Amino acid sequence: FKTLDGLEAAGKKVLLRADLNVPVRDGRITDTTRIERLVPTIRELADKGAKVILVSHFDRPKGKRVPDMSLEPVATALATALGRPVNFAHDCIGPDAEAAIETLRPGEILVLENTRFHAGEEANDADLARQLAAHADIYVNDAFSAAHRAHASTEGVARFLPSFAGRLMEAELNALDGALENPERPVGAIVGGAKISTKLDLLGNLLGRVDVLIIGGAMANTFLAAQGVAMGKSLQEADMHATALQILADAKARGCEIILPVDAVTATEFKAGAASKVVPVTAIDAEAMMLDAGPETVRLVCAKLASLKTLVWNGPFGAFEIPPFDTATNEVAREAAALTEKGALRSVAGGGDTVSALRHAGVLDRMSYVSTAGGAFLEWLEGKTLPGILALTAVAQDAAPL
Ligand code: 3PG
Repeated sequence: FKTLDGLEAAGKKVLLRADLNVPVRDGRITDTTRIERLVPTIRELADKGAKVILVSHFDRPKGKRVPDMSLEPVATALATALGRPVNFAHDCIGPDAEAAIETLRPGEILVLENTRFHAGEEANDADLARQLAAHADIYVNDAFSAAHRAHASTEGVARFLPSFAGRLMEAELNALDGALENPERPVGAIVGGAKISTKLDLLGNLLGRVDVLIIGGAMANTFLAAQGVAMGKSLQEADMHATALQILADAKARGCEIILPVDAVTATEFKAGAASKVVPVTAIDAEAMMLDAGPETVRLVCAKLASLKTLVWNGPFGAFEIPPFDTATNEVAREAAALTEKGALRSVAGGGDTVSALRHAGVLDRMSYVSTAGGAFLEWLEGKTLPGILALTAVAQDAAPL
């Protein structure tokens, strides 16, 4: 794909697909990471004299105009992050958008309203894609985190305009490439999370790519239970035991070492400050739940990290939102960060809870790369081709302006 290197953008209208789908609670943006990560691309384009037209989805309004799902407050937050004025148009197509674009001067920035107010966005309607493309001379996609969606603004529009990857997209792809496609070995992955059933493709793909797979979260409970370990009242998927055993057998056949918890932090109730007990996984009380990996597991995992050159991390070890069940995640995260800072490890993390867990551990800025993507990061770990990226590489390379 083409990057912004050498792109002549002066006086050109650039349609910039951003992911402004930021978390909001009670009308307030709770995390501005995605907004901040867009700043370099927007500044670069604006400083080159482009008219920058941002387009994004926000939440899931399902083709209807839902006032609570307007991008207007996000445009305000973007202006703060940029330290520059940002204009806003109340629709992403039609007279409102066209009038706002008409008055844009080189170097100015405009945010268009939520693309998902139109049903054609998720349907990847060619007509909507064409109308979006008609706003601009060039399409820049900086939304890796929405690249797993084949929607009008992520995929369709690239068929109608010369298309480029923005700086954030470029950084995400370089980081991911270095972590799984062309990693320095040995490479390990930490995979946590509640369920095996939602991560089957991911586990299957990783087995063929990594040297060590470290399994945490409630998913580990299922692997242990499948091997006959009595897990008490721990969360686990009883119908996934056969699958778990198959995964372990596949790992063995492929030479991938699997690390499972050897000890557990257990409690009989799941609440902050609940009385907890550390036991070997083979000695979990019938009434107790495993809510985190124990100190011996942390020691084992940290020792393993020291032997790796590359680490991919998705999913916490324990119920990290509720202390003391955040201990294993915090300690392993801090060790990964320390090794990264020493230059001994390249660490790439991403996907939903992982970012919150690493922020909670205070290491978000100390890893080699933390992806802003949730679902897209998971699909990439599953080895899937992301349509938004494919559109930049194959379909759009030779596209001519409308
Ligand atoms: C995300 O937050 O993962 C992306 O913005 C995609 O959002 P979606 O899952 O609603 O398509």
